[in-house]
Amino acid sequence: MTTHQPNPSRSQSLLMPVNAVPEPPVLEMEAASISSDPALEPSRARTFIKSILTGAVDDFVGRKVVVGGWVKTGREQGKGSFAFLELNDGSCLANLQVIVDAAVFPLSQLVPTGTCVLVEGELKKPPEGAKQNVELRVEKVLEVGPVDPAKYPIPKTRLTLEFLRDFVHLRSRTNTISAIARIRDELAYATHTFFRKNGFRYIHTPIITTSDCEGAGEMFQVTTLFSDAEKLEKELKQNPPPSESDIESAKLFVKEKGEIVSQLKSSKASKEEIVASVSELNKARENLSKLEERFNLKPGIPQKDGKTDYACDFFSRQAFLTVSGQLQVETYACALGNVYTFGPTFRAEHSHTSRHLAEFWMVEPEIAFANLEDDMNYAENYVKFLCQWLLDNSRDDMEFMVKNYDKTAIERLQLVSSMPFERISYTKAVEILANVTEKKFENKVEWGIDLASEHERYLTEVIFKKPVIVYNYPKGIKAFYMRLNDDQKTVAAMDVLVPKVGELIGGSQREERLEMLVKRIEDAGLPLEPYEWYLDLRRFGTVKHSGFGLGFERMILFATGIDNIRDVIPFPRYPGRADL
Ligand code: 4AD
Ligand code: MG
Repeated sequence: MTTHQPNPSRSQSLLMPVNAVPEPPVLEMEAASISSDPALEPSRARTFIKSILTGAVDDFVGRKVVVGGWVKTGREQGKGSFAFLELNDGSCLANLQVIVDAAVFPLSQLVPTGTCVLVEGELKKPPEGAKQNVELRVEKVLEVGPVDPAKYPIPKTRLTLEFLRDFVHLRSRTNTISAIARIRDELAYATHTFFRKNGFRYIHTPIITTSDCEGAGEMFQVTTLFSDAEKLEKELKQNPPPSESDIESAKLFVKEKGEIVSQLKSSKASKEEIVASVSELNKARENLSKLEERFNLKPGIPQKDGKTDYACDFFSRQAFLTVSGQLQVETYACALGNVYTFGPTFRAEHSHTSRHLAEFWMVEPEIAFANLEDDMNYAENYVKFLCQWLLDNSRDDMEFMVKNYDKTAIERLQLVSSMPFERISYTKAVEILANVTEKKFENKVEWGIDLASEHERYLTEVIFKKPVIVYNYPKGIKAFYMRLNDDQKTVAAMDVLVPKVGELIGGSQREERLEMLVKRIEDAGLPLEPYEWYLDLRRFGTVKHSGFGLGFERMILFATGIDNIRDVIPFPRYPGRADL
């Protein structure tokens, strides 16, 4: 029987009183609480540095703890008699000061930046006047992951974010990237919290799809045709296919075996003899068909009528990586009401901008019985909720951003979480932009254009100085699924524009009228067949519904003030780069 009782031998001595620390809820990696195999190395409780640094000092002083992390800076002191290590375990931005005596462990192995250590010791109050409230006096060095400082690519000097992009596997050790990772995690948790609070269900939509949601033809293709062709080519080289004469002799062999069977039958041979000869005939036939199959193998990509034959591909049809989970999540909105999807999306745009990735994450709610105004209300409330969440839960990391990247980052969160967004129609937006005299736009402003990033940013940064929702765009520049307005010229679309980023959210009320939707698909020059299932949602129990997509990385740019989107996703993918 296994139980979930804490293991008294280890955790009790190391556990601190949970109620003495206001937050976070998880203070340490507990030692295994399930009785385990004595043959295994026992698990060990580890205290998170965050819990030590955010707890009441008096509760910690005198306590024995095990702490593990990576050395930010280390220096030998007192003529090599002891060393100070600034240790970071990623649980928070701040480091714990750790003191190790030379008698405990060879100091030169501990001080290089990047060294991993697991140490046990006692928490102490440092001498008066010290910067920190608590320090750890090491009694035992339990484990060390050494670093050769001559080879470590990210020394303690300040490195540019651009430089760090060449070390995506190590850059999470830096203050900036780890702070962004924690902020990103908070925003993901806040997202699930917001939607759960509002009665939404989380739906996992497919990554591989056979429909182009945006109809923009910017999809990455998923195919095994190339690797299959390469495998076949290699195989045919190693094991050449049979020749025509091989086939002829195999055919002859089948014929001979057939004749033997006929002879035996007409000479009324024994049953055993006939069965044995039929079996030989079958073997010969099998061999022939295998040879013929191999004979027909053609190297290269399979073709039919001069085109690639996708019937031979993995899914027996063309398939792609999704650009958006919207169409699929609509199927669940039309059954569960309020739903959302949150996952990676892929776009094969050759954009080299600081706002575009080839792989990015999108949060896409879809709401039944909701019109465009409901959609805007949800979008605004969601963005406000995210901002407030960071103010409440990511204070230290946000202060780090203010100090190092964007002085106004916290102010911006405060402003956005407390002030209503501006809402203007596209027509009005164009009117405002056309009357701007103090700035010359690179792209001409006239009704019908797709607003460029410079226009979007001007509206939100200069004119309104807060988030702006632009709605009712010309139908010609928006996707086929958006609901046609009564003016027949515009669709019920909305974009949320925010300072620093421009477009953060794109959404719309969906076209729920079958005939209208068919016409919009045709007008967009798209084939109807791949969208038949989508049209079924309108054929059977159609419902007015709306939704939007928030670019998750753009939200992180907006929150942190970081300039380039490649630095706010752990593993950036963009034209020419897909490391790891
Ligand atoms: O405006 P988009 O293209 O809308 C859709 O995909 C809809 N199907 C969403 C929906 O209604 N469910 O994309 C939504 C958001 C944009 O506003 C932008 O923030 C982000 O996704 N985005 C990108 N982010 C990073 N890199 C890219 N290449 C992006 N393309 C769009
Ligand atoms: Mg858009």
